[in-house]
Amino acid sequence: MSQSPARSIRSLLITGGAGFIGTNFIRLILAEHPEVEVFNLDALSYAGNLDNLAGLDGIYPGKYHFIHADIRDEKEVKRALSLAQPDTVVNFAAESHVDRSIDTPLVFVETNVLGTTILLEACRRTWKNWDDVRFHQVSTDEVYGSLGSTGLFREDTPYAPSSPYSASKAGGDHLVRAWGRTFSLSVSISHSSNNYGPWQFPEKLIPLMIANALDGILLPVYGQGTNIRDWLHVEDHCRAIWEIITRGAAGSAYNVGGDNEWSNLELIRLLCSRLDALRPRSAGSYAALITFVPDRPGHDARYAVDSSRLRQELGWCPRFDFRQGLDMTIAWYLDHQDWVRTIRTGKYAGDRLGLRAGTGQDGSRNGGDAASGKILRCPNAGCGK
Ligand SMILES: NC(=O)c1ccc[n+]([C@@H]2O[C@H](COP(=O)([O-])OP(=O)(O)OC[C@H]3O[C@@H](n4cnc5c(N)ncnc54)[C@H](O)[C@@H]3O)[C@@H](O)[C@H]2O)c1
Repeated sequence: MSQSPARSIRSLLITGGAGFIGTNFIRLILAEHPEVEVFNLDALSYAGNLDNLAGLDGIYPGKYHFIHADIRDEKEVKRALSLAQPDTVVNFAAESHVDRSIDTPLVFVETNVLGTTILLEACRRTWKNWDDVRFHQVSTDEVYGSLGSTGLFREDTPYAPSSPYSASKAGGDHLVRAWGRTFSLSVSISHSSNNYGPWQFPEKLIPLMIANALDGILLPVYGQGTNIRDWLHVEDHCRAIWEIITRGAAGSAYNVGGDNEWSNLELIRLLCSRLDALRPRSAGSYAALITFVPDRPGHDARYAVDSSRLRQELGWCPRFDFRQGLDMTIAWYLDHQDWVRTIRTGKYAGDRLGLRAGTGQDGSRNGGDAASGKILRCPNAGCGK
């Protein structure tokens, strides 16, 4: 299939860039696309961490800027857009943890639905006279719901989300499509499978298991551990997003997956065996720490995506072999024990979440570390919300 010429990107506004995937995306763009100026708008929720990006403004002078702002705040978003003058916005900002969405669902709706709408509307108002712009929504395969033992999600699979997290991401996606169809805003959406790699907040499966194993505490497996996920290295996801925002068709959605399905139990056993090889412990195999715990309510059985559209139209394919990527990821966490320790002794100690219906809303924001990046504060924007 013939490919249309790539859009050139001059100024890129990334939301949620202090989180896991946003951090990896910013690092990749700065390293490989020196022509692009990157603005990172992040509210610094519990999951946002400026340590991930420390020193980038020194390594790439004039190319990287941090804006402390919240996508739920229309004034802050408008000021950020007028400061950055972006031709491309990539929306990573989200409440992203399914277990937390069971405890505190409203903040998921506020950020993932309302915040996305505020961003879309601000872009529409700012961009109405611009020729070549793009709003890209970073979505998830979880919006499609759950699969049986066979089959794959395609881009035309109807949405059937199960959790407050996936339902709020689905809501955001619908609004992105509506802004594309109703207002002719140039939009695109990507639906990635589960990502792994460096800088992932240690509440998510792989970094949590590594951190628990190294601390010699139990490795909790939800239910029977039979739930299946398709794992993709975060850098492969980031490269897919770059292809979509530069060469993907406006109004399109693309699935992004690794054709790499593992049940949770198989994956945890593999992690244990790799840790046994890379950091053996005197007490014997880490697998002895595996313990079965009550399942997550509404736990989807299987996710797997068909990425053939992305492969055929844009020539993308994953570069990482899973076992090598996993070894590199384990090595990264072994080398960044201080980073993990700071989080586990502060923001998140590794507790089980998502078993009770909570009533409180944890919309807490921390102020971040102003010394670790160049912070552009939107006028009147408060910090530490
Ligand atoms: N991690 C995965 O495996 C995966 C897979 C598919 C899709 N996604 C999607 O990719 C995106 C990024 O995921 P992640 O794993 O990096 O998440 P993350 O939780 O690590 O990071 C989220 C970031 O968004 C910021 N944020 C939260 N609320 C905000 C608000 N109201 N305003 C501004 N910033 C806010 C946080 O401070 C944090 O920096 C999300 O939209 C998620 O749904 C993630």
